[in-house]
Amino acid sequence: MTAYTEALPSTPTELVLRRAEETDLPELRRLDHEIFGQFAYPAFLLRQLFDLYQRHFLVLDDGSGRLHGYVLAGTDTLSRDCWILGLCVTRDRRGRGLGRDLMREVLLLLEDDGIGVVRLTVEPANSAAVLLYRSLGFVCEEPDGGLRPDYFGPGQDRLVMRLDLTPPSRRR
Ligand SMILES: CC(C)(COP(=O)(O)OP(=O)(O)OC[C@H]1O[C@@H](n2cnc3c(N)ncnc32)[C@H](O)[C@@H]1OP(=O)(O)O)[C@@H](O)C(=O)NCCC(=O)NCCS
Repeated sequence: MTAYTEALPSTPTELVLRRAEETDLPELRRLDHEIFGQFAYPAFLLRQLFDLYQRHFLVLDDGSGRLHGYVLAGTDTLSRDCWILGLCVTRDRRGRGLGRDLMREVLLLLEDDGIGVVRLTVEPANSAAVLLYRSLGFVCEEPDGGLRPDYFGPGQDRLVMRLDLTPPSRRR
């Protein structure tokens, strides 16, 4: 386990929040398909995202080899910008604060690593995710209240949301 391991006792089976490992890839593919269906990452891309961004790829593990959620952030360390590339919690574990825990943990890591701006896209109708992001301080990035028509292709509108982080050097 890494230094980011954290027990989450409020769940039916205790989950551990930890960094993703290479051996998680088959289970991550299964989880991604379960939650995102046709929008799941192709296996080759998930692999390469893992290779690029393992440091900011966190999972919820029940200890039996089954994963119940993940968050993935893709960073550009030159510009100090970052995009959240994936967040999910399995249906049976939602509404227990796990999505918030995943986001909080990855935001702490990003802040410690000197990332200044975090962006993400979300379907405008996905009110659970929008409310979660707003509660963490994300705001819609102008213009047009964050709405980007056809962002992922025809009919695939998305909201772009943004959070500014405080670099370690400017923290009190
Ligand atoms: C979005 C998602 C990750 C939230 O995970 P979760 O563990 O259920 O969320 P949490 O329990 O941590 O809830 C945190 C906050 O999110 C909001 N929220 C979560 N579920 C909600 C719902 N069904 N309705 C309204 N708000 C909701 C609330 O603001 C909540 O705070 P509160 O409990 O103080 O009211 C989960 O619903 C999911 O995996 N959805 C499918 C994948 C997805 O949409 N990912 C985001 C893509 S951008």
